[in-house]
Amino acid sequence: MTMGDSAILRKTARSDERHSPAALVRAMLLAACMLSTLVSSHAQSASPKSPPSATAADSTNPPEKVGEALFQVHCVVCHGSEARGRVGLAPSIRNRDFLALASDTFIRETITQGRPGTAMMARPDLAGPATDAIIAYLRSLHVENPLTIQVDWNLKYEGNQAQGSEKFFVYCAPCHGPRAEGYSAGVVGTGIGLPGFLAVASDDYILQTTRLGRLGTPMQPFVGPGGLANLTEQDIKDIIVHLRHLGETYVPEPPGVYREANPALGQTLFTVNCAPCHQATGEGKIGFAPSIRNRDFLAIATDDFIKRTVHDGRAGTGMLPRPDLSEQSVVDIIGFLRALPSPIKLAIEVDPDKSFAGDPQAGEPKFQTYCAACHGPKGEGYTIGLPGTSIGLSGFLNTASDDYIFQTLKQGRLGTPMRPFLGAFGLANLQNSDAHDIIAYMRTLPSQQAPAASTDSDFE
Ligand code: HEC
Ligand code: HEC
Ligand code: HEC
Ligand code: HEC
Repeated sequence: MTMGDSAILRKTARSDERHSPAALVRAMLLAACMLSTLVSSHAQSASPKSPPSATAADSTNPPEKVGEALFQVHCVVCHGSEARGRVGLAPSIRNRDFLALASDTFIRETITQGRPGTAMMARPDLAGPATDAIIAYLRSLHVENPLTIQVDWNLKYEGNQAQGSEKFFVYCAPCHGPRAEGYSAGVVGTGIGLPGFLAVASDDYILQTTRLGRLGTPMQPFVGPGGLANLTEQDIKDIIVHLRHLGETYVPEPPGVYREANPALGQTLFTVNCAPCHQATGEGKIGFAPSIRNRDFLAIATDDFIKRTVHDGRAGTGMLPRPDLSEQSVVDIIGFLRALPSPIKLAIEVDPDKSFAGDPQAGEPKFQTYCAACHGPKGEGYTIGLPGTSIGLSGFLNTASDDYIFQTLKQGRLGTPMRPFLGAFGLANLQNSDAHDIIAYMRTLPSQQAPAASTDSDFE
């Protein structure tokens, strides 16, 4: 927890001195909050909130420093500290050979357009100075014996696709997948047959990568007598023609759900797309990403709630939208989550159409007393470094029904700092009507947030 956060806690504590039963609860909340902060102190450092130091680049704050701060917030979960990558999850982007071949434009377009169908999400919100600063940071990282190589970004190679297909299958498919779909096939290499990669990579970029390999990663040099397979340049050109063919004939999974959930496939998809934040089996990290294998969460969240959360993301938080993931893939992921072992499963009916007539004005002081310590005075959540999620932002409120919130308050979330709040056994013995007031107040919160929750504000 930062100084700012404890200031928020102190402020909340003081302004509520008159409600006496709340004092005890507050002490417990604070204890819970402190505890969770200890647990999450590591996560905090990589939390997807605005980096405090990422203000305009100037002489005291050179672009590579700004870029480093942005990298810590937006990229480190997947690309690892110092951008070294994680085999099978995200490539090394501080790699000598990568940096020698990739132009600034290549990196810029990869960041802003992403690689649809992979966990590399498009970040148009980082276009402009933020992306330039990240590139400056990558280029400032120390590499042994740096290389300079000219890549031709326009040249097109001729080759024989049928032969390329055979060679690809023998030499490349074991690491890049049978259709070069990359990590989602459970392999260690990237999706070099996907349209997103092929749109930014030139033929020569691919040839040079195959010639050089990537020092320190499983990608070896393949060409010539020193290469792993003694392939000729023409062999690689054939393979490139085949890769282009794969890109042109790529069919994203059809919309809709056409078979039952496959939890095993779901696990692979979860590992590459969700585990960097939600952890290997969905248990989450307090203050960073919630547990989505939690018994109470899975009882209250419908499949539709999870699908919408993945598709739309939660604006202004680390949960970025993934409209490119097919509905079938998300169904497989949900199948994986629901099949995970859990303490005695619960069945809770949430009525998405029910709404409660609470009083937002009466809800405000209750929210500030019982919820703000963990979720923030305006429900900003992780974005201001607190252990609870961003329940005051429109991303959450547009997806969650009144009854979803009500049931969460009644049930709590086993094993997380979110306790049950309602009734005699609840943490605060709140009544149903108190919950209705709090919900009514929460619905007013999005209009109270600072206008741009977007990362552009890092440069204002
Ligand atoms: C949720 C995980 C995730 C996050 C967050 C992420 N990336 Fe990626 N990134 C990937 C994956 C996966 C790939 C490889 C995709 C593929 O198969 O082509 C990738 C590829 C790249 C590449 C291309 C590397 C190459 O070998 O061609 C660059 C450059 C890159 N990412 C930069 C960034 C930057 C900068 C950020 C932060 C703004 C970022 N990424 C955030 C997962 C992520
Ligand atoms: C032993 C496994 C392995 C084999 C075999 C392999 N690759 Fe790779 N390749 C990788 C890995 C891993 C990466 C990403 C490097 C990283 O993780 O930082 C990669 C990266 C690449 C890239 C850069 C992709 C990008 O996102 O910028 C290209 C192009 C490529 N490989 C082409 C090929 C071709 C063509 C073949 C067959 C001749 C091949 N690879 C065979 C493992 C392999
Ligand atoms: C870059 C990090 C990141 C990645 C990758 C990511 N998430 Fe999230 N996710 C978050 C954060 C942060 C939140 C909490 C947002 C908030 O504060 O409301 C979240 C929230 C959620 C929620 C809502 C949980 C709740 O308690 O209501 C679901 C469901 C979810 N994510 C599913 C997924 C799935 C499925 C994937 C993979 C397809 C995924 N996420 C990938 C960061 C991530
Ligand atoms: C002690 C800290 C703490 C307090 C106090 C607290 N919460 Fe939470 N709350 C959390 C955490 C942490 C989570 C996410 C659980 C996880 O990480 O898996 C959460 C989750 C939630 C969720 C589910 C959000 C989602 O993304 O699906 C709702 C709704 C919620 N809290 C509402 C409230 C309300 C309303 C109050 C006040 C009555 C409150 N909470 C008080 C810590 C707290």
